[in-house]
Amino acid sequence: MNINNSIEQNDLIKQMKIELWFPTAIYHHDPELQEIAAIRDELQAVVDKEYTEILSRSDSLERSYIQSRQPEHRQVIQKYQLQQFHDYLVKHAGAFLSKLYPQAQGVEVRESWFNFYAPGDSQEVHNHVHAIHPSFLSGVFYLSAPPGCGDIKFYHPNMQTAVPNPQGSIENYETSYAPIENRLMLFRSHVSHAVMPNRSQATRISVSFNIYVR
Ligand SMILES: [Fe+2]
Repeated sequence: MNINNSIEQNDLIKQMKIELWFPTAIYHHDPELQEIAAIRDELQAVVDKEYTEILSRSDSLERSYIQSRQPEHRQVIQKYQLQQFHDYLVKHAGAFLSKLYPQAQGVEVRESWFNFYAPGDSQEVHNHVHAIHPSFLSGVFYLSAPPGCGDIKFYHPNMQTAVPNPQGSIENYETSYAPIENRLMLFRSHVSHAVMPNRSQATRISVSFNIYVR
């Protein structure tokens, strides 16, 4: 049966009630330079060492971007004692959780790692839910984000449902953010995301992390 455009149908459309439930929360923060200066210094002091170390690992080029899953590269906050960066993440996670999970007693940044995207690099769709200890929040901080270096794209958590992504619909199935240097983004760990190809001539550098809630 076709959907008709009768007067009766148009009246129904004017009167109908549709409620939009189940939002997907994405947090971002663009700091003033003075707010971020000490954190940038902390990260800049270790980024070259971390890059060189990662490139020496056997798994550094196994993915569509430069990263190592070896344990020494998965907790860079602890490894390099990035205290200012850590406190910055905890502060912003706390603000986000005040709306998302007001009963949260505390947070722990358990995993943190650098990602390097050379020109042409990208990352496939994934999420950060781990089977044994699912983290609550995940996020990313952009240390270096040259123009065109690849948006982060988020997908509806139920994107597997058999509904097309329609033009002009009140439902959205994906959205993307251009990475901006010094931008912090936080999102629930189950929200799938991907990184579009780096179309710039320089390396895109970010630090990702998982946050657990008590
Ligand atoms: Fe990710």
